[in-house]
Amino acid sequence: MTLFAPPRSSSAAPYVAPRVPSARATAPPSLLDPGTEHDPHPLYRTLRGHFPLVYDEPFGAWLISRYADVRAALQDPRLVAPSPGPAPAHGEDSTHGTHRALVSPALRGHALAALASGVERTAYVLARRLAARQEADLVAEFCQWLPVAAAVAALGLPYEDTARVHAWCRTGLDHLGGRRPGLDAFLRPHIVRRRAHPGDDLLSALCTARPDGRPLPDEAVTALAGTVLGAAGETTARALASFLANLLDHPGQLDLIRARPELTGGAWAESLRRDPPLHVVPRRALEPIGPIPEGATVACLLGAAGRDPARFTDPDRFDAFRADPGELAYGSGQHFCLGAPLARLTAEHGLRALLTVLPDLRRAPGPRPPAEGLISRSPRTLPVCLR
Ligand code: HEM
Repeated sequence: MTLFAPPRSSSAAPYVAPRVPSARATAPPSLLDPGTEHDPHPLYRTLRGHFPLVYDEPFGAWLISRYADVRAALQDPRLVAPSPGPAPAHGEDSTHGTHRALVSPALRGHALAALASGVERTAYVLARRLAARQEADLVAEFCQWLPVAAAVAALGLPYEDTARVHAWCRTGLDHLGGRRPGLDAFLRPHIVRRRAHPGDDLLSALCTARPDGRPLPDEAVTALAGTVLGAAGETTARALASFLANLLDHPGQLDLIRARPELTGGAWAESLRRDPPLHVVPRRALEPIGPIPEGATVACLLGAAGRDPARFTDPDRFDAFRADPGELAYGSGQHFCLGAPLARLTAEHGLRALLTVLPDLRRAPGPRPPAEGLISRSPRTLPVCLR
């Protein structure tokens, strides 16, 4: 049973707010409590156990932490993505569906297959650059580059611009359309060229689309391209860092995957369950829902949902061969991530290239840099020995 009753319809019984189990502590904990950014899992345990739906006053949002509730909330049409704007994640009206329909063909099917060889090539280039070294930081020298190169290729931007996009991603181009002032100026000449001479890339598709009989304005094209670049460069980079950290922490599992590459997809999904790169997905309530007032912000805690013991056996354990897989790291419902197949493909080629070129790859001795971040979370560095 979830905290979320289905939307009220004329024939349905009136919605009754569910009873939230009584709390042990008097004051509910907050995401902003000291230490949470360092390790949010003790807080998540308390929330799931005692405060499954609670208003976090310092954070300014209602927190939802159990797997079933997070899933139900993400699928609930009464809870919409905040801040209307031109990026797919930010519209709830027909614009959202239109923008999804424009972006999605470039990220699946034939288009995705066409991207695969470029991603593979880049993964090998990056891995070979490390081959002569004794040690490296995989976050700075691999994870932060490969997904950016994949997104640059998907958009059809010049490979040489990967470094510039990489720099933006490191300084604030976030998953859902975060903008950089320089991004508009950078994309403008590409947009002009694609409008005149379209190719078969995503930027061309955006530039030539006429969703309501008119071309998309430059601003919308830039916002959609910015979403794709940010989603890859920031979110996939973080997910890749956690994935490699989890595998290097479990050399037995890594050896099995080395021998049986077809197991890589399961390991990737398991890492996204245990350590998703996005821990918080926000929603805004269109109407009162139980105790949640109209207009309130709701925080769907993906990081807490992925470790819910009611859903997963031994949820803190990383088990690449888990018998009860399933994660919400890509969201659920009408905003489900459009880049999930590209992210998985990037992880699969990335791991394969590293294992092939660097057969002695292992964790560097010494303390393991912990994951950091409250909203987005991953290890900031991943020091490894290469020989
Ligand atoms: C491991 C990597 C990734 C994770 C964990 C992830 C996660 C998510 C999540 C949780 C959402 C839903 C947000 C919401 O419900 O408000 C989302 C949406 C989205 N993602 Fe990703 N993402 C990843 C990679 C990518 C990549 C590589 C791309 C593009 C190349 C991408 C493009 C998008 C877009 C366009 C949306 C908006 C969809 C919509 O609103 O309809 N993502 N992603």
